[in-house]
Amino acid sequence: MDVLNLIEEAYEAKKMSYAPYSDFHVGAALLTQSGKIYRGCNIENAAYSPTNCAERTAIFKAVSEGEKEFKAIAVVGDKEEYLTPCGVCRQVMMEFCDEKAFQIVLAKNKTDYRICTLQELFPGAFSAKNL
Ligand code: THU
Repeated sequence: MDVLNLIEEAYEAKKMSYAPYSDFHVGAALLTQSGKIYRGCNIENAAYSPTNCAERTAIFKAVSEGEKEFKAIAVVGDKEEYLTPCGVCRQVMMEFCDEKAFQIVLAKNKTDYRICTLQELFPGAFSAKNL
């Protein structure tokens, strides 16, 4: 996997962020097992709760195009800090991604990043296995 390229794709995605309420701009780039990259940005709403995070935008775009097998996602924000996915996005990742194999790339900038698994970020999560 070309991590630096995935991070750059996430920064490209952030350019499309629609965040007039929080002014907190987020970009994500999702790598599929087939090698495609889907970009996502956060999309806010005046009613607040319909807001969609960058990660979910990328995942929903991919699933709506017939892709359901994912290798990794890179997430970037405006601040030089690691931006970790919210609980709702972690739950959506649980639906489609392997807890141990899926790589979540949290990037502070284009070269400083940390990779974690879903198992690390979301231990004890509820999933289809529990049904
Ligand atoms: N946000 C994301 O897009 N991804 C995250 O991982 C955390 C939060 C968005 C949602 C909202 O538009 C803004 O950031 C502030 O919470």
